[in-house]
Amino acid sequence: MATPLIELLKLDHPIIQAPMAGGATTVELVSEASKAGALGSLGAAYLSGEQIEAAASAIRARTDRPFAINLFAPVPQEAATGDGARMLALMARYHAQLGLPAPQAPGPQADPLPEQLEATLRARPAVLSFAFGRLPAATLARCRELGILTIGTATTVREAQVLEQDGVDAVVAQGAEAGGHRSTFLDAFETSMIGTLALVPQVADAVSIPVIASGGIMDGRGIAAALALGADLAQMGTAFLTTDECGISDAYKAVLPASRSEQSRVTRAFSGRPARGIANAFMRDADAIAADILPYPLQNALTRPMRTAGGKSGNINVLSLWAGQGAPLARRETTANLIQRLARETEAARTRRN
Ligand SMILES: Cc1cc2nc3c(=O)[nH]c(=O)nc-3n(C[C@H](O)[C@H](O)[C@H](O)COP(=O)(O)O)c2cc1C
Repeated sequence: MATPLIELLKLDHPIIQAPMAGGATTVELVSEASKAGALGSLGAAYLSGEQIEAAASAIRARTDRPFAINLFAPVPQEAATGDGARMLALMARYHAQLGLPAPQAPGPQADPLPEQLEATLRARPAVLSFAFGRLPAATLARCRELGILTIGTATTVREAQVLEQDGVDAVVAQGAEAGGHRSTFLDAFETSMIGTLALVPQVADAVSIPVIASGGIMDGRGIAAALALGADLAQMGTAFLTTDECGISDAYKAVLPASRSEQSRVTRAFSGRPARGIANAFMRDADAIAADILPYPLQNALTRPMRTAGGKSGNINVLSLWAGQGAPLARRETTANLIQRLARETEAARTRRN
């Protein structure tokens, strides 16, 4: 790709507002981020095809700037190996506290991806980004025909190389500091926890496609550092969680700037797949019986009623408080203000003389 990504996407700033499935990346957040000259991304992994098309039209009604739609690549189904009854008993305790009916053991989960992909291709965003693995060659080829840029997510050099060979247009290098789910798909999660500072330059050396740094980037100092390491853009999730337009509850927004980095953990408690968030009561209780946590996506289905109830009532003991290690640096402000501040801070950090 001869043209730099920032020009190809017609961005004013080297910033991607990270896709965050589960309600954080509202139409308002994505369109405000894109309007302000960053790339807004809709986390669509838990949306139906119809919801994806409706969200894409609503974003287009607010801005004609480019935006991304993000999905989860297929994940090989693992068999449950722990004691499911113990996990169900823990859930029953939490359901009772929340006044919810007794939890049900989840049955097989339908694969939402084919319908989501069809809707995304019809919606034709500027970018289709994805996490958790690889997309079929035919899908990447259709994106190319339709002029949709594709961005995969890697947590190791090997994953970045595999995605490049598959033909993606750019790759996110997701460091261990990152909030939310680990995108690891080749090696063990435990050995794929590479810090952003170490990962980004190694990925930049190993591939010839543009690299997007992600994980722990919270302000202009972080963006300037990512660019100095060889990244074309910085993808930021946690920094956008506390914006006015973000769809998470106020209780969750309040937790982030008040937290300390030592409270940040990687856990399988909420979904069955390792993800980084701020420790709370449910995370500690489920991690105490970690061997009994169901595999993804079953654990995700099992904990959904509890998380939904927690979101509505602002109960931070039962919510998945996904956030990166930089969460204490988060600030409450509008998306437009955040992006203007980031642009100023990046400029200051890039020209600073020590
Ligand atoms: C609440 C939350 C949800 C996330 N959901 C997604 C997602 O749906 N798809 C995805 O590719 N990445 C997702 N991520 C990861 C981000 O793309 C990105 O890697 C991460 O936010 C970067 O680290 P930071 O949070 O320290 O900025 C999520 C992150 C958070 C905090």
